Amino acid sequence: MGNPRNPRIPFVNLLAILQFSLVSTLAAARFAPPDNHLIACGSPSAAALDDRRVFLPDSSSALLRSPHPRISVSAAPNPSPFPSPLSRTARIFTRPSSYVFPIKNKGTHLLRLHFYPFPTPDFNLSSAHFHVSAAGFVLLTNFTAPAPSLKEYLVRADAGKLVVTFVPACPSTFAFINAIEVISAPDDLVADVARLVSPDHVENFNGLSKQAMETLYRINVGGPKVTPFNDTLWRTWTPDTGFFESSTASATVSFSGRIMYRKYGASREVAPNSVYSTARVIKGADGLMSDSNITWVFPVSSGYRYLVRMHFCDIASLALNELYFNVYINGYAAYEDLDLSDAAGQLLASPYYVDFVVDASSSGLLNVSVGPSKLSDPLKISGLLNGLEIMKINNTMGSLDGEFSVISILESPRRKTFGAFVRSLLCGFAFMSLSAIVFMLVMRLRTESRNHVAWSPLPMDASEGKLATGNSMLPSKLVYF
Ligand SMILES: *[C@@H]1O[C@H](CO)[C@@H](O)[C@H](O)[C@H]1NC(C)=O
Ligand SMILES: *[C@@H]1O[C@H](CO)[C@@H](O)[C@H](O)[C@H]1NC(C)=O
Ligand SMILES: *[C@@H]1O[C@H](CO)[C@@H](O)[C@H](O)[C@H]1NC(C)=O
Ligand SMILES: *[C@@H]1O[C@H](CO)[C@@H](O)[C@H](O)[C@H]1NC(C)=O
Repeated sequence: MGNPRNPRIPFVNLLAILQFSLVSTLAAARFAPPDNHLIACGSPSAAALDDRRVFLPDSSSALLRSPHPRISVSAAPNPSPFPSPLSRTARIFTRPSSYVFPIKNKGTHLLRLHFYPFPTPDFNLSSAHFHVSAAGFVLLTNFTAPAPSLKEYLVRADAGKLVVTFVPACPSTFAFINAIEVISAPDDLVADVARLVSPDHVENFNGLSKQAMETLYRINVGGPKVTPFNDTLWRTWTPDTGFFESSTASATVSFSGRIMYRKYGASREVAPNSVYSTARVIKGADGLMSDSNITWVFPVSSGYRYLVRMHFCDIASLALNELYFNVYINGYAAYEDLDLSDAAGQLLASPYYVDFVVDASSSGLLNVSVGPSKLSDPLKISGLLNGLEIMKINNTMGSLDGEFSVISILESPRRKTFGAFVRSLLCGFAFMSLSAIVFMLVMRLRTESRNHVAWSPLPMDASEGKLATGNSMLPSKLVYF
């Protein structure tokens, strides 16, 4: 063969190879969660999803703490109403029961609960009524699932384990669950500080990462549905249809170039390419600046605070520093003159997100708007939004579903047992306090006695036993204390 080595080509090749491998490693570097519990409840075998994840059966696992006999049910094989392999089996609880997940990495975890009701001869799953708690927070009270439902929560697990508890709402009913996911959230998924939006000002909201949250809406603005298969954290993003208030001033845009993720910027785990590469923009007609907002409206329950995470990525401007806009939440100014080029490190197509915390208005609706700012250029777009997430934050009772604390929920189906537990706790506490008082008195009297120059033991009653013998200085009535 004798292929003479060309001195120039190898170097160029090397660079190309290096570049290619760098790009492909970056593209392939999927987030690997330290904790990743995927459980198919009541299933005799593992269930493989089309997003390439495998859910393990809970029957053999040590995770389940449930009174025996354990009940599992399967759907009738013929007309499978739901496509997911997780929808064919369920675990039933007629008494309070828990899953205890060991946690390797402290911090925020994603918790997903899958409910696929199906009828069986003994249990009609859609008639179950039950409570669910996790990590000391109430997630669901008197919950019933007439239709398939996937609930997603963000909870902090600090104690080396995460306990998820199911409690039938009354003794005659039962609880069920088809599948559970407990996944470590990436460190950068929930920051601790957000912008708290009030009617007349914006201040810092601290301690966001310590709240429990429920995902209510996760929207790919101006784009298609994104499934767990294509999301970095196995999330689902839905189109904004049904939430976007139609406006003549808006247009959707999509981008086929590369999204410029930056270190310390929004990462792929915060939102994937497919969310940042589509958007809705405010566009004036024929060089006239549009003078209207674009708005999304979401039904929410009042009495809670909400985290509104807005995802931005300037995929529409042709040059830097051409896009300025305002953000309004519930009609309040939340962010004025947002300059995306500046916020995203002087790059176009670079993702950026802002977390706002807002109280629900009494209307039961949460409004999010983007509108032109006084700095907007009449010839350019004057607003944009790529993605939107709305999370409910736990109330002061530590609940995401009503004014019940975890204690009251655990108590409801077996008041007596729980009362007895509380009594024994109180008795234990009283005993320990008394012992501590006695001990302190003894020590004090001993110290005093050592400081005495002359002392004489008091006569002791033999019936006072051991305690008296070592502490002969004690007045006899204290021994009975
Ligand atoms: C749960 O809700 C049902 C109606 O959906 C109601 O009949 C029942 O009383 C409720 N139970 C509790 C314990 O609140
Ligand atoms: C994943 O995304 C690709 C490219 O956007 C798309 O063609 C494919 O249908 C998606 N797959 C699923 C399962 O959503
Ligand atoms: C956008 O909405 C805000 C809040 O409702 C309002 O103050 C502002 O005037 C609106 N902007 C335009 C251009 O309509
Ligand atoms: C959520 O629960 C935590 C712990 O119980 C509490 O410290 C926090 O204040 C609650 N959040 C709100 C918004 O009430």
